[in-house]
Amino acid sequence: MSTKTLSKLDAPKNISNSEKTLGDNDFIVSKTDTKGKIIYCNEIFVKMAGYPPADLIGANHNLIRHPDMPRIAFKVAWDLIQDKKEFFGFVKNLSADGSYYWVLAYITADVDASGKIESYTSVRRKPPQSAVNAIKPIYKQLLDAERSGGIDASAKILENLLEANKVSYDEFVINLQKGASL
Ligand SMILES: Cc1cc2nc3c(=O)[nH]c(=O)nc-3n(C[C@H](O)[C@H](O)[C@H](O)COP(=O)(O)O)c2cc1C
Repeated sequence: MSTKTLSKLDAPKNISNSEKTLGDNDFIVSKTDTKGKIIYCNEIFVKMAGYPPADLIGANHNLIRHPDMPRIAFKVAWDLIQDKKEFFGFVKNLSADGSYYWVLAYITADVDASGKIESYTSVRRKPPQSAVNAIKPIYKQLLDAERSGGIDASAKILENLLEANKVSYDEFVINLQKGASL
């Protein structure tokens, strides 16, 4: 069987409103090189993404990026992990069949003995429905802001939101995960 490395061009064009949900005990795991290309993914990752496993290796992780996700979410993630800090965030991912699934993602850098980043690892779980309900309108607002004012506009909105609620980004995510309305 021949394999090919998938690219964003292979992502589905027909995006549907059909949602898949993770099981309560599922962990989606993937590992990337320093550029974000997948070097490992587990079985549940393959099942949720819906692509042939061999074709996922070497593919850029943005293959499963959903167009409803604001760019600022990934900027926050990359800024933190490149700085060897942990990222937690709610992510809507796109499957090969055009459906979507929500996760609470954790991403961290894997460093060698000298402190150099060798790869990144992500583990994801099913988020509580209350967190998904709360984050949806926020991401919509960030996305709309990006469409008119670019990433600077969404960065400002996120900053204002955190400031108004007197929380850090991490606290904001943890509070939603715990079921708080913000
Ligand atoms: C270990 C790791 C896991 C990632 N997991 C996801 C993911 O599940 N979904 C996603 O959309 N982006 C994920 N990303 C972020 C992507 O690399 C990328 O920044 C994002 O999809 C936006 O891509 P784009 O700016 O090319 O559209 C992950 C990055 C790393 C390093």
